[in-house]
Amino acid sequence: MVTQVDLEPLVRDELLSRCTGLSGLIEWLDEIDRRPGLDELDHRLRGISINLEALRNCIGSADVDYQRNFIKKSEFYELVANTWKPGQSTPIHDHVGSDCAFPHRLRRLHGDHPFARRAGSGRTD
Ligand SMILES: [Fe+2]
Repeated sequence: MVTQVDLEPLVRDELLSRCTGLSGLIEWLDEIDRRPGLDELDHRLRGISINLEALRNCIGSADVDYQRNFIKKSEFYELVANTWKPGQSTPIHDHVGSDCAFPHRLRRLHGDHPFARRAGSGRTD
């Protein structure tokens, strides 16, 4: 079972102050008043620069299954940093009418992870 964690407000503020890629993404998501769609999300995420050290210091991982670290949730979107340890996976699933997109380049945060080496595009429909 997936573990879901909301970042503490102070931790989130620290992350966003150190990662202009994420803070800029949130600014953009908060400003738009429409559904961007996958093409626009893909464009935004391709150019994003993530401060991995700051992210690594602000999120955790679970021992039993992967962990969803909520950076921001609103009525219209969720910004989540998922962590998978070696051997953990996410089953194929349906978003039932919502869009789900990942940054183009997946990187490992902790140690070696075979999924990170195999992954190319992070886009999912
Ligand atoms: Fe998903």
